[in-house]
Amino acid sequence: MRKNIVAGNWKMNTTVPEGVELAKAVNEAVAQEQSLKCDVVVGVPFTHLTAVNAVLEGGKVGLAAENCANHKSGAYTGEVSAAMVASTGAQYVILGHSERREYYNETNEMLKEKVDLALENGLKVIFCCGESLEQRENGSFKEVISAEISESLFHLTAEQWASIVIAYEPIWAIGTGKTATSDQAQEVHAFIRELVATKYGEQLAQDTTILYGGSCKPSNAPELFAKPDIDGGLIGGASLKAADFMGIVTAF
Ligand code: PGA
Repeated sequence: MRKNIVAGNWKMNTTVPEGVELAKAVNEAVAQEQSLKCDVVVGVPFTHLTAVNAVLEGGKVGLAAENCANHKSGAYTGEVSAAMVASTGAQYVILGHSERREYYNETNEMLKEKVDLALENGLKVIFCCGESLEQRENGSFKEVISAEISESLFHLTAEQWASIVIAYEPIWAIGTGKTATSDQAQEVHAFIRELVATKYGEQLAQDTTILYGGSCKPSNAPELFAKPDIDGGLIGGASLKAADFMGIVTAF
């Protein structure tokens, strides 16, 4: 049985003290939930990982970094390795976010290297994919998503695949207030699951968690999460306020 997950992606927001406060608020709210129907994860800047981990330790909320390097270690000034991320206590890393692909030129090939290093260091990967507005409108979106997933992930063994969570994030819906309709999202999620089934078989595909991201909020989360192939969300803006984030966590 696959897991439902709601993961926050704070992006480049909050100072360390602000982030610790936010993590505490989420941690306390999650601890009070009697019947949680999903795992909860917060994705935070590198600078925050250790301090936020101290707040979350022993609780129910998981911790993710928002990126890691595509090199193991050494002379890469300013980079943060997967081993460093794992040593903070984080269990997850978000890879392939469209903002990383677009503004930092991350390619499918680089992401493949990052995925391998993350898995070698025992991290689970929340792997983002999704099309631009142009690709949605010219009908090439399935090809784009298929290439993103197959070129960065399909070298993995079935055993390694168990550490992969997919996040479908249509770029035109990120931070724009323009959510994909639940039917549009469901169509792509079903397509992704089919793609995974073709490569890894029906059982592994059924066990794969596929999140939706892009202007997900308390008001639209119930309809999105009710779809058969949508197993939760990757939440940007609405993860920066504990009450909004909890409104999505409790949407199942
Ligand atoms: P958003 O961002 O919820 O602010 O649209 C989602 C994401 O980029 O992960």
